[in-house]
Amino acid sequence: MDALEILLQRRSSARLTEPAPQGDARENIVQAALRAPDHGTLRPWHFVMIENAGRDRFSDLLVSAAQRQGLDEKAIDKAKNAPFRAPLIIAVIARCEEHPKVPHWEQVVSAGCAVMAMQMAAQAQGFNGIWRSGAWTEDSMVCEALGCRPQDKLVGFLYLGTPQLKAAPVAPLDSTPFVSHF
Ligand SMILES: Cc1cc2nc3c(=O)[nH]c(=O)nc-3n(C[C@H](O)[C@H](O)[C@H](O)COP(=O)(O)O)c2cc1C
Repeated sequence: MDALEILLQRRSSARLTEPAPQGDARENIVQAALRAPDHGTLRPWHFVMIENAGRDRFSDLLVSAAQRQGLDEKAIDKAKNAPFRAPLIIAVIARCEEHPKVPHWEQVVSAGCAVMAMQMAAQAQGFNGIWRSGAWTEDSMVCEALGCRPQDKLVGFLYLGTPQLKAAPVAPLDSTPFVSHF
């Protein structure tokens, strides 16, 4: 897939099935993340792969978090099923450090760039996915269980797999209202 085409045609896919990217395809996805723009070469990224039995553990974790948040039965059930919407979930953590020239927000943005790079690398290889947060990126129980330290930021979950539906081409937006000149 041509680089410009993938940038212009990137789109998310929420209906995902097996197989998840494995082997070289998975490594390409992680390598794409490791090319995210990175002020100060801090490499402020950590990726937690959630798959196979890990999805069951993640489901249990989301249920516990939902119960602790006092959510209703419907929301608890939604939390329980959430991890099974894709064969692979990558939790992306910005591992933020104090730095005199690189504030935390730049490190969080770098981790966000890593998510998009991974989604595009997945799409380029015939896979796809969707970046989700939900309530869970702000939940201390979920963050701690995934290994976040207090200064870190869980930027989201990249659900990945094989798209069940062929995505319709994206119609370009009129760029005019998004652009000004100084
Ligand atoms: C930080 C972040 C969090 C997001 N969280 C969710 C989410 O929890 N649920 C959801 O349906 N979409 C979420 N999205 C939006 C999807 O990833 C996706 O961009 C959106 O469905 C539009 O589809 P597109 O990427 O094909 O334009 C989030 C996007 C970002 C950047």
